[in-house]
Amino acid sequence: MHLDPSLIGTFAENLKPAASQTETLYRGRYDANHWGVDVIISTLRGFGGPEVLHLAEAPDPAPSPHDVVVAVRAAGVNRADLLQREGRYPPPAGSPEWPGLEVAGEVVEMGGRVTRWQLGDAVCALVAGGGYAQRVAVHEDLVLPRPDGLSWEEAGSIVEAACTAWSTLEAADARAGQTLLVQGGSGGVGSLAIQIAAAHGMRVLATARGSDRAARCEALGAVGIDYTAGDVVDRVRELGGADVILDVLGAGALADNLAMLRPDGALAVIGLQRGVRGELDLGRLLALRGRLIGTTLRARPHAQKAAIVRAVERDVWPFVPTQVRPVVHGAFALGEADHAHRALESGDVFGKLVLTPPR
Ligand SMILES: NC(=O)c1ccc[n+]([C@@H]2O[C@H](COP(=O)([O-])OP(=O)(O)OC[C@H]3O[C@@H](n4cnc5c(N)ncnc54)[C@H](OP(=O)(O)O)[C@@H]3O)[C@@H](O)[C@H]2O)c1
Repeated sequence: MHLDPSLIGTFAENLKPAASQTETLYRGRYDANHWGVDVIISTLRGFGGPEVLHLAEAPDPAPSPHDVVVAVRAAGVNRADLLQREGRYPPPAGSPEWPGLEVAGEVVEMGGRVTRWQLGDAVCALVAGGGYAQRVAVHEDLVLPRPDGLSWEEAGSIVEAACTAWSTLEAADARAGQTLLVQGGSGGVGSLAIQIAAAHGMRVLATARGSDRAARCEALGAVGIDYTAGDVVDRVRELGGADVILDVLGAGALADNLAMLRPDGALAVIGLQRGVRGELDLGRLLALRGRLIGTTLRARPHAQKAAIVRAVERDVWPFVPTQVRPVVHGAFALGEADHAHRALESGDVFGKLVLTPPR
């Protein structure tokens, strides 16, 4: 569906799906008692290419006792959303079935036991799904204040990457003075991880495709390495190797990553863009006294996600926006989620894309 953003309001007014269609969107927290007021969402009409994304209406989210309802000003687009659209990454039980892992907006409704937030607070939040919407309900533990000085678009694109990057650096025991290699420094996670690590006193090396993207990593605080220009292993070894590697590539980079890791180092794999299954040289890992860490954010138990969100507020938010600022490549109207997905698939995005719902 290709919509002129200026037409979205008109389109939404005319968009009244049949009751049966609306009912198919009813899930979990989306309470039939709130049937009267609908919200516009961007959802999937099946699994497949970007064309399956379309605007629809869903019942207004009803907060559970510890939930806040956020009126979404911006929702981040993540690579996981592409996998969900293709049917390869189902949302956790109880989450809305439409995509969206992070939002920024204002608190417009609260459950009776919410203690951290007030109506009208400007916030950002980590959601397990359903961010592509005008409104979303989220447990108060997964909400952070919108950092002063960030636009809505920036605030809508920071939480998923900040939680992923910071929890992974913590799991790897990354410390000031160490060298971090970010495999995928041009991505949404990588471009923020560079800044977070640099702000915490790490020396950062980062890979990207082409000299321009490598230069952009440099501008964020890393030594940029164009992986198309020569051997990344040689270059990183010249630079002394890495104590910690934050890797989005997976199997296809396993051998190279071990070749670049320093003794007592940690290889933390968060993405599998070069494959799932590979051969691991355990002799090399043992000789390095190395650690191999695999991690995901979305599927974690609530208590772990809540602890990560609080750690990000404590350890990352003080650096935002002076030393850490999400790179927003572009914003699309909610009805143009298909365009956003195509853009992310093109490989030309540096940093993040966001969707802005109609108000
Ligand atoms: N485990 C978790 O909790 C978690 C959380 C968030 C994201 N992720 C995963 O982490 C990965 C990165 O997420 P993102 O949001 O940063 O994605 P993104 O914005 O799409 O960025 C992808 C990054 O991977 C690099 N890349 C892709 N294919 C490559 C290849 N063949 N060789 C070298 N570099 C390559 C890209 O570099 P160039 O474009 O410069 O080539 C870019 O830096 C995704 O797989 C995502 O699913 C995992």
